[in-house]
Amino acid sequence: MKAKIGIINVSDRASQGVYEDIPGKAIVETLKEYLISEWESEYQVLPDEQHLLEDALRFMADEQECCLIITSGGTGPAPRDVTPEATEAVCQKMMPGFGELMRQESLKFVPTAILSRQTAGIRNKTLILNLPGKPKAIRECLDAVFPAIPYCIDLIG
Ligand code: MTE
Repeated sequence: MKAKIGIINVSDRASQGVYEDIPGKAIVETLKEYLISEWESEYQVLPDEQHLLEDALRFMADEQECCLIITSGGTGPAPRDVTPEATEAVCQKMMPGFGELMRQESLKFVPTAILSRQTAGIRNKTLILNLPGKPKAIRECLDAVFPAIPYCIDLIG
């Protein structure tokens, strides 16, 4: 069976069609470089609404059986940034090391990296990983943590 990876772009404006889903494409392009076995992706573009994001995370984990879900956006300090809260609400276990490493690496590129509350967690057999919304940040963060992802999925599967 092909591995399934869920990709959720959390952005009020992208969900209204104001922006193209550039983060979603950036995630796929980066994953193509890392993954050698066959995989398929499930996509959603959602507004920054915690309950919608929680529903999507549960659906991708429980119904679509994604082994990995990557979100982009909604990790900052603004009132509508609720991606880490939604992630925590649906996970049984948090994996703070992912956020710590991504922030540490991101600080080499931008001082504003401390503004991201990005984290990761586990819902049953699914690893959920938050990335900031900027396409450049997606690459920088995935490069930092990708080596740990397949091993983590193996351990929970
Ligand atoms: N991390 C990296 N690697 N590169 C970036 O450009 N931008 C920061 C931070 N992390 C950034 C980054 C900024 S400006 C913000 S506000 C936060 O991520 C949150 O971004 P988000 O709300 O799009 O998730």
